[in-house]
Amino acid sequence: MTTTAWQRCINPQCKATYELTEIHHYCPQCGSLLDVEYDWDHLAVPKSLAHFERYWSERMIPQRFSGVWRFHELLPFAPLEECVTVGEGQTILQQSKPVAAYTGMKPGSLYLQYEGLNPSGSFKDNGMAAGTTHGRLVGAKVSACASTGNTSASLALFCSTTKSMNCVIFIGSGKIAYGKLSQALDYGAKTIQIEGDFDDAMARVQEVSKELGIYLLNSVNPFRLEGQKTIMFRVLEALRWEVPDWIVVPGGNLGNSSSFGKAFIELHRLGLIKKVPRLAVINASGADTLYRLYEQEKLRWNGGNVDRAKIDAFFHQMDVEGRRASTIASAIEINRPVNLTKCLRALDFCNGVVRKVSEQEILDAKAQVGAGGFGCEPASAASVAGTKKLVEEGIIGRDERVVCILTGYQLKDPNATVAYHGTDRAFFEKVLGARGVQTTEYANHPISVGNDLGQILSVLRQGK
Ligand code: F0G
Repeated sequence: MTTTAWQRCINPQCKATYELTEIHHYCPQCGSLLDVEYDWDHLAVPKSLAHFERYWSERMIPQRFSGVWRFHELLPFAPLEECVTVGEGQTILQQSKPVAAYTGMKPGSLYLQYEGLNPSGSFKDNGMAAGTTHGRLVGAKVSACASTGNTSASLALFCSTTKSMNCVIFIGSGKIAYGKLSQALDYGAKTIQIEGDFDDAMARVQEVSKELGIYLLNSVNPFRLEGQKTIMFRVLEALRWEVPDWIVVPGGNLGNSSSFGKAFIELHRLGLIKKVPRLAVINASGADTLYRLYEQEKLRWNGGNVDRAKIDAFFHQMDVEGRRASTIASAIEINRPVNLTKCLRALDFCNGVVRKVSEQEILDAKAQVGAGGFGCEPASAASVAGTKKLVEEGIIGRDERVVCILTGYQLKDPNATVAYHGTDRAFFEKVLGARGVQTTEYANHPISVGNDLGQILSVLRQGK
């Protein structure tokens, strides 16, 4: 095992370090989040990002095929041959003219990063490759996570294919899209449905993991976030190592935004990039903790001295008012994001902004992504809806280069899609109308006809 990597508390007042093999969810000394840190001076760091192109010709080696591990030099906490892979990270960056037009961007300026093309259909596989590698390194036999659906699908897939650990997943009852639930069940994960929401499941899984010595694979696990850095490496690779002006990402538990920030901090420090992109994190209006704290309460990273009292007062007030997250974008239906402070660090380094988007805005953007590309689930479309908003506000320039991260695959949540495009009014009311969605401006309605050739021909001849 290498000694060129360790874990470190992100609180600058503490900075305690822990060995790679220690398992902590938070710093035992001060309770802050932990980072994986490297002794870059004693590691073989590439001189330029183009270094990684040499691995394109080694795709027959599973770890070189992996979109995570072919950047191993930038997350070297385990020997390459011991890194777990299920073929994650074969994702593409697609330039989309229709979606650019929808957001008000100039043609050629907007890109969609399809993380839904991962084996379990979401970006989580990037993190799970790294997280399960660490789990195996420390000899974990059982792993667990709380989930709004995608983390559990990903963990279940990694456990079923690699057989290195058993897994238990915790989900809020009725709080998960069926596409995702079906994956966890099909992959054979022990599935615990808790009466409550994601925040309840998250609290319980941490207690259970501690009590039973189960390895926790939520994004509070710093090794998982190492894997998610590679989403940014692949974006840069697709842009021929040029740095875009903006990265726009949906915000839930804030693992992705945190890991993107860490990726850019490290790339910059290592001299591998000169420019740093700006980061926009998009909340759903019904789950807007980060928006409120960052944009309204002006909570900041402040060199790591985050105003904890402000956060505590905010959550206290949330409980007093009985406010619970509620959004059609169930993946990001989260009140208490565990990576809040790390996300503040990312926003600080990347000169970030936070916006919230309504249910209507999310669904309209989702329909546009579907019509102009491979499609995505509702939470992912928040990035496109957020971009539109930031262009309208004049914060994103129309000809800047913007990358929206589409975090999850279209088929994860077919209910939302069918309710939007379909003609069943009762189903629309139940799924979307009840959430305040009023119009389906971008819907592609199916046309109902009798089982009659004449009728069918007549409809098609009318060009409907
Ligand atoms: N998009 C999708 C499709 C997600 O599944 C999630 C998170 C996010 C965005 C938010 O990312 O947490 O890094 O800010 N899903 C988690 C889960 C919470 O349990 O699957 P984040």
